[in-house]
Amino acid sequence: MAMERTLVLIKPDGVQRGLVGEIVSRFEKKGLKMVGCKMMRLDEAVLREHYAHIADKPFFPGVSNFMKSSPVLAMCWEGLECVEAVRLITGVTKGRAADAGTIRGDFAMSVSCNVIHTSDTVENATKEVARFFNSDELHEYFKSEAEHVYNEEERA
Ligand code: PPS
Repeated sequence: MAMERTLVLIKPDGVQRGLVGEIVSRFEKKGLKMVGCKMMRLDEAVLREHYAHIADKPFFPGVSNFMKSSPVLAMCWEGLECVEAVRLITGVTKGRAADAGTIRGDFAMSVSCNVIHTSDTVENATKEVARFFNSDELHEYFKSEAEHVYNEEERA
């Protein structure tokens, strides 16, 4: 069991639709710890790096324009095995096919306007957190709720 960090981006549709508070609240209520948060405008260079795996797909220009259309909220969340936990809360890419109860299942219909991006693997989470945050923008602190979120073995 490892303590992990993962990247969450609230995409332009999430910001425009006033879903920031709702999304942050879901992660907080789950028992995850926010260790970084900033609003930023993404440029072509960071999007080409972040979406390198879809750069040659016909829909990439559309994704890129959409992601530049308004600021996004970048967050780093921390928790035990949280990369997978956050993916479960996110739901599948296609919002209209995502399970009810997930963020995309509850708030999205689209494959690209799907409210949030979340890291898909532990390896990518490490790269993505470093892509969006400088080390002095990530905060280590004790959150007293940990005693109630985790058992003794999980906290050790
Ligand atoms: S893929 O194609 O397997 O890499 O798909 P995925 O990793 O789920 O998606 C990567 C991001 O591309 C967006 N996407 C699309 N946009 C427009 N049209 C289509 N068909 C499409 N398929 C995927 C999707 O929103 C993903 O963004 P993130 O930020 O990773 O959620």
